[in-house]
Amino acid sequence: MTQPLKITIVGSGYVGLVAAACFSELGHQVVCVDKDTQKIDQLRAGQIPIHEEYLPELLERHRGKRLMFTENLSEATREADVIFVAVGTPQSSSGSADLSYIDAVACEVARSVSGYKVIVEKSTVPVFTNEWIGRVLVRNGVPRSSFDVASNPEFLREGTAVQDFLVPDRIVIGADSDRAVELLRRLYQPLTSGEYYLRADCLFPSQNVTSKLPTLLLTSTKAAELIKHASNAFLAMKISFINTVANICEAAGADVDEVATGIGMDERIGPRFLNPGIGYGGSCFPKDVAAFRYVANQLGVNFDLLREVESINGRQQEGFVQKVASALWTLRGKKIGVLGLAFKGGTDDIRDSPAIAIVQSLLQKGCVVTAHDPAAMERTAQVLPPSDDMRYADDPYAVADGADALLILTDWKSFASLDLTRLRALLRYPIIIDGRNLFDPNTMEAACFDYLSVGRPPVHAASIEAPEQPLASPTKKGSWSAPGAMPALSVGA
Ligand code: UDX
Repeated sequence: MTQPLKITIVGSGYVGLVAAACFSELGHQVVCVDKDTQKIDQLRAGQIPIHEEYLPELLERHRGKRLMFTENLSEATREADVIFVAVGTPQSSSGSADLSYIDAVACEVARSVSGYKVIVEKSTVPVFTNEWIGRVLVRNGVPRSSFDVASNPEFLREGTAVQDFLVPDRIVIGADSDRAVELLRRLYQPLTSGEYYLRADCLFPSQNVTSKLPTLLLTSTKAAELIKHASNAFLAMKISFINTVANICEAAGADVDEVATGIGMDERIGPRFLNPGIGYGGSCFPKDVAAFRYVANQLGVNFDLLREVESINGRQQEGFVQKVASALWTLRGKKIGVLGLAFKGGTDDIRDSPAIAIVQSLLQKGCVVTAHDPAAMERTAQVLPPSDDMRYADDPYAVADGADALLILTDWKSFASLDLTRLRALLRYPIIIDGRNLFDPNTMEAACFDYLSVGRPPVHAASIEAPEQPLASPTKKGSWSAPGAMPALSVGA
């Protein structure tokens, strides 16, 4: 049996809250601290500020027992064996990560340290942050022998955060002292030994049977910091790569699904993160790509590759708006139904959501938008307040009612099972433009839609008359020159 540890987690955002709930699930005694007293009161009362599967169950199980919430950092850290720093590292105007919250936490921790502690970076931070934290503690009078700074990056994805934490691909521990390594090893022992997966109340018991146990990777602290930035930058690069390949497929009349399957079968490449769409968003990729490029630059290393990754991502969103214009000829006054506002399915997070950027662009071009999202409407309404041009619908079918076209902007699973016959009957024109490739083109053809997606031949099942014009490479599912794909000569006119 693993010996429980006393853990303090500073910050109750996505990473902090999920880590706090999951460490208590593993048997440790956890205190989660945040300066936001309102949030702490809500958490104490069992209200969860984010939409995340399994989090309500975990809070219900452990809140008030192994999981406490407080706004008092010095009290929370005094008894702790391990202090996780999971506060925000937002992007500053230069592109670098703003580390002022980390700095402030280090100063405050310094005031309450008594006895040996391991201070662990959980937020995504640039290389050398561990050294700065150490320096701040020493400057504030903490003896060098009474703490270690380690890095334990978190790879959780929003929407599957609890599962990613409790069933990880790998656990990275970057530490430069054996004492710190041993404490952090103990923290994850229930996962690495498989003990957790054998528990009767384990959330993911099949893990024990179906997969191998999580690997613990021990590295230097600097390497762990770099692993986090490099992982996110690489995944963002993979998405920009497949988005560009999708654009080539559209121009060549090929199907990107076939191409992605073919390249993904190479074990060196792998099939995941090869889904083309409207570009990546969220609270991590845009910020971390910019921060990693900044770090490289500071260290004298040219990483313009990442600049291109960012440019491709921006162009992908513009290209989608262009596709809408191509399908509708002009945009001013057009009624557009939008399904999806969150930056991806399974979350209510709209930070850097490509869906929001596209809706904003359509509004600027004079469209009237009615949008639905299963979880993100409330948050979106704070950024795009309801108006005559921007409406919200609780029912996904209501967005199609009388719309000139329906757009799919977030990959919510529930959208894929909507009743197509009903949607077709509600739409003014049976046009669906799918930025997430949620539907099978053959199904859309059978359902008599004009259907445009990303990197796949268009379907023009519903076209009444195609105006005379030269045909470009015809494909089995349609031709690129049918009305839905005509170049928009006067976007927004
Ligand atoms: C990401 C990393 O995956 C995670 O390891 C890290 O800890 C935090 O950042 P997250 O931001 O939750 O997680 O979302 P993710 O699932 O990675 O998706 C990021 C964006 O890329 C989304 O907008 C998503 O729609 C897009 N995406 C993802 C694609 O466009 N294509 C893909 O194949 C995969």
